[in-house]
Amino acid sequence: MHFQWYPGHMTKAKRMMQENIKLIDLVIELLDARLPMSSRNPDVDELGKNKARLILLNKADLADEKQNDAWMEYFKERGYSVVKVNSKKGGGIKSIQGVIQEACREKIERDRKRGILNRPVRAMVVGIPNVGKSTFINSLAGKACAKTGNKPGVTKGKQWIRLNKNVELLDTPGILWPKFEDQTVGLKLAFAGSIKDELLNIEELAVELIKFIKKYYTGVLAEKYNITESEDAYRCLNEIAEERHCLLKGSELDTNKAALLLMDDFRCGRLGRITLEFPEDFR
Ligand code: G4P
Repeated sequence: MHFQWYPGHMTKAKRMMQENIKLIDLVIELLDARLPMSSRNPDVDELGKNKARLILLNKADLADEKQNDAWMEYFKERGYSVVKVNSKKGGGIKSIQGVIQEACREKIERDRKRGILNRPVRAMVVGIPNVGKSTFINSLAGKACAKTGNKPGVTKGKQWIRLNKNVELLDTPGILWPKFEDQTVGLKLAFAGSIKDELLNIEELAVELIKFIKKYYTGVLAEKYNITESEDAYRCLNEIAEERHCLLKGSELDTNKAALLLMDDFRCGRLGRITLEFPEDFR
């Protein structure tokens, strides 16, 4: 399997982000908690230099809690503010306002020394496609709008969402494309559903996922599908097809259907909380 991206999109998105980044104080970078490094675009450090930085480990509900904590530690050690969030259900969202103030303390202090008081921090959300940017913005802004009563909280022109008197958020997130030479990065993004499945061979993908889960989360597949977790990952896929009655006409096993089922179970968290990469491998 070979993964590719489209430079046309990347160039346009990057240009837009360079424009917008001039306007902001804080970069809120969304990462997928299941694959924080592989869902990072390395350009963000260059783009966001001289800005306050906040990393959100989104979809934390799908990732291994022990690894979530280890990843938080990893990024904190490197000077970022970090929060684990579940944008879909609102987990961790409440603490964001406080963390934003903390992350921008230097800027607020600098303003104060210059006699500028009460200028709101301006922030932009960035991240790769499908990491949850829109869900996060809705979750964060939803609460803020509710607080200001019936006012929509959105100003015309450049679209800023006023979260409260201290923070304004650019309503269009910055889309970064993941960047990789390393094909295992592509593979992990594909597992998570961040690469369109139409571009992939779903059975090959499922077989690779089976290999990973068997190795790092031994027993999970056996329990979920009542299979043996044999050495041969393709055989496991066959067993899943058997157990789940994925059959073609003539009672031949439909491994494509079994592969789709497995990928869906993984992506929705029905295999439990699974992290695809571990901080110790990046130290
Ligand atoms: P984007 O703007 O960065 O492209 O991402 P978007 O918000 O559209 O989110 C992509 C998918 O990820 C959505 O699922 C969304 O519900 C899901 N998602 C976002 N944040 C979280 C989270 O913290 N936890 C979990 N479990 N899922 C999250 P979808 O399948 O496209 O839509 P739907 O299932 O919500 O209908």
